[in-house]
Amino acid sequence: MGPTALCTLALVVVWITHWVYRWRNPRCNGQLPPGSMGLPLVGETIQFFTPTTSSDIPPFIKKRIDRYGPVFRTSLVGQPIIITTDPEFSYFVFQEEGKLFQSWYPATFVEILGKQNMGALHGILHKCLKNMALNLFGPESLKKMLPAVEQAACRNLKRWSSQESVELKEASASMIFDLSAKKLISYNRKESSEDLRDCFAAFIKGLISFPLDIPGTAYHECLQGRKKAMRMLKNQLQKRREKRSEQQSDFFDYVLEELERADTILTEEIALDLMFVLLFASFETTSLAITMATKFLLENPLALKELTEEHEEILRRRENSNSGFTWKEYKSMKFTFQLINETVRMANIAPGIFRKTLEDIKFQGYTIPAGWFVMVCPPAVHMNPAKYKDPLQFNPKRWEGMELTGASKHFMAFGGGMRFCLGTDFAKVQMAVFLHCLVTKYRWKAIKGGEIVRTPGLTFPNGFHVQFSEKNEFQQDQTINCTSDAALKK
Ligand code: HEM
Repeated sequence: MGPTALCTLALVVVWITHWVYRWRNPRCNGQLPPGSMGLPLVGETIQFFTPTTSSDIPPFIKKRIDRYGPVFRTSLVGQPIIITTDPEFSYFVFQEEGKLFQSWYPATFVEILGKQNMGALHGILHKCLKNMALNLFGPESLKKMLPAVEQAACRNLKRWSSQESVELKEASASMIFDLSAKKLISYNRKESSEDLRDCFAAFIKGLISFPLDIPGTAYHECLQGRKKAMRMLKNQLQKRREKRSEQQSDFFDYVLEELERADTILTEEIALDLMFVLLFASFETTSLAITMATKFLLENPLALKELTEEHEEILRRRENSNSGFTWKEYKSMKFTFQLINETVRMANIAPGIFRKTLEDIKFQGYTIPAGWFVMVCPPAVHMNPAKYKDPLQFNPKRWEGMELTGASKHFMAFGGGMRFCLGTDFAKVQMAVFLHCLVTKYRWKAIKGGEIVRTPGLTFPNGFHVQFSEKNEFQQDQTINCTSDAALKK
């Protein structure tokens, strides 16, 4: 080997050594939180995404809390990141949105959900969109929606009870999708030539996949699903523009009105991305919550008994037994709200919430450099035995006397701060009404599956097949033992 080659080799070795050193010891104007950056490039991605079926804090997180404390650094998919399991600091991260931190999603997510989706927008534009959407999912609007929600729950439960079994997550996702699509764009699957739900199904299959956009990959299918759904939404918006309704009947009308205003900051592209995200967020999350609540009730007969009593009492108090569910009744359901909070605490539907630092952040003597990513880890907060006694125990009663709305340092299932979930009330209405129809009219038992698979970044059920049967097929005094095979055979 000649001297030039030797020199080049030496330079390459020095460069690689320096690069590996920098990888392990990123630059920081202070002391970084403790942790390991893992292997060069890969970081600790593989360990992070190792699935578990336990409801507890994921082992990846637990091990690092024991080793480094509640706030630690790591590296995922080539990015340095700080993970916080500290309730105070996590709450602070949410409160400082737009000032010290900013909502952030990986580039592939932005590609899939749309460059103009609400999570990727900031400042005044985010505020304006959020107000628009809150208008749709606020109490006044939800009050009007109550009959449609009840009809959907009753209709679907009736259909499911005529089937051998249903995969509950998928079935409830379809139920909620139909409702949301009707509310947002007056879409009716039966009357439409194109199936919007199918586009979303293809989209979801590839949502968490390796980002390789070539035919045959799940990621490609996902992008195709999005493209098709966006095309359909665009066509629908165009049709509506050509044939405007006299009265504002859905979100499309609202968007069209807004687009016509001279001073609007809304564009058609933003409106369509918003529509896409609202449709997606509404059915993916709430269907998982409904699935989990149904599963928890099967496993906890006492909770089922108390819930059933609360809802049978609602029916008893009615002057007309056939009258529909009212807002007053909805607001009166104390135990139901406790049960919903306990379900979302344990379900940890959003197990990781991501932010980016806008400047250097000082925390307990450590510095998080500007531009770094921060992941808030709600499961660590929700499964903390210091706050929730026997955290793995499903116990709706633990919410007695506790705040049931909004976010706190110890409850962040719906996020917190400026990015607090705008669909919280919509999700709660759907869950409460579904549970009302379920416990007053049906029994159910698990046929297959029911495991919930988790990684610190994802929660998904592994096929929960449930058999529903109408209650009047059984003796009324068997309300509690819904899991009993004997009861179902009678
Ligand atoms: C049980 C059901 C639900 C759970 C657990 C849930 C959870 C969350 C969480 C944790 C966030 C905060 C994300 C962040 O800070 O980056 C969020 C935001 C959001 N959620 Fe939900 N969600 C649920 C239902 C819904 C529904 C039904 C809708 C639609 C109607 C919806 C639409 C949204 C939107 C648009 C945002 C972004 C808000 C913003 O950026 O300001 N969610 N959700």
